[in-house]
Amino acid sequence: MALVSMKEMLHQALEGQYAVGQFNLNNLEFTQAILQGAQAEHAPVILGVSEAYIPYMGGLPCIAGMVKALIAHYGINVPVALHLDHGSTFEVCVQALHAGFTSVMIDASHHSLEANIDVTQRVTQVAHVLGATVEAELGRITGREDDLVVDEAEGMYAVTEECVRLVRETGIDCLAPALGSVHGPYRGQPKLGFDRMGEIQRQTGLPLVLHGGSGLPDEEIRQAIRLGTCKINVNTDNQAACTAAIRSFLNAHPDAYDPRNYLIPAREAVQRTVQSKIRLFGSSGKAGGHA
Ligand code: 13P
Repeated sequence: MALVSMKEMLHQALEGQYAVGQFNLNNLEFTQAILQGAQAEHAPVILGVSEAYIPYMGGLPCIAGMVKALIAHYGINVPVALHLDHGSTFEVCVQALHAGFTSVMIDASHHSLEANIDVTQRVTQVAHVLGATVEAELGRITGREDDLVVDEAEGMYAVTEECVRLVRETGIDCLAPALGSVHGPYRGQPKLGFDRMGEIQRQTGLPLVLHGGSGLPDEEIRQAIRLGTCKINVNTDNQAACTAAIRSFLNAHPDAYDPRNYLIPAREAVQRTVQSKIRLFGSSGKAGGHA
């Protein structure tokens, strides 16, 4: 099956009250594991590529080529979107679209609202001509280096009126409002801004995106989905599963030298994690839509 844009899968998810997983590609084995996990669950899936991984994996055309070749090799017949995660500039978004990505995130959340609207508008114009989907962000999703107490985190929550304006003036397809989730491991109890999440979804009408999907309690994930979250991004939990499998193999076999010996169990561990997230998100069996 050819790559598809996220738009239809996210609208079906909004109607059907489930979320589609975005799993980040780290290398060949992650790509194999995610595609095979989605196929095993008969689930739509979004392959996310963050900017730092573009040079690591050999550039955008190499990544798009690898994904398409693996889809053909495994006979993947579930909807797959290839998505640029946290694109920081107009240029990198256009480069991703040119390479065959079917969806981009333009993340100008650290700029002023006016500058965010301006660049998001320009990206959306190009992406929509190509039938691709656009995600944008408002507020600040913090990283693993930040050690925020909840009051500080709430100060960085997306503001509803700004979300409405960004959506209205840009024509984006889905929105990632920062509401207390973080990339990387959580320190202490995560506290998501559910009231604000519901308000933003009602007022924008768009499918919402939850970044930092690793390490959140299952009930928080389900609550986010009930409030209109249709795309949940996961990377750290897959990375942790991969590394734990490699560590365990090498501890037990210190003389091993063939990478396949530890990369195969690592790939299987990532696939198991992907499948368990897909079931938690409710997208298992939804490859043909929610009906
Ligand atoms: P985690 O690494 O915390 O799962 O977050 C992934 C993410 O949000 C990618 O955009």
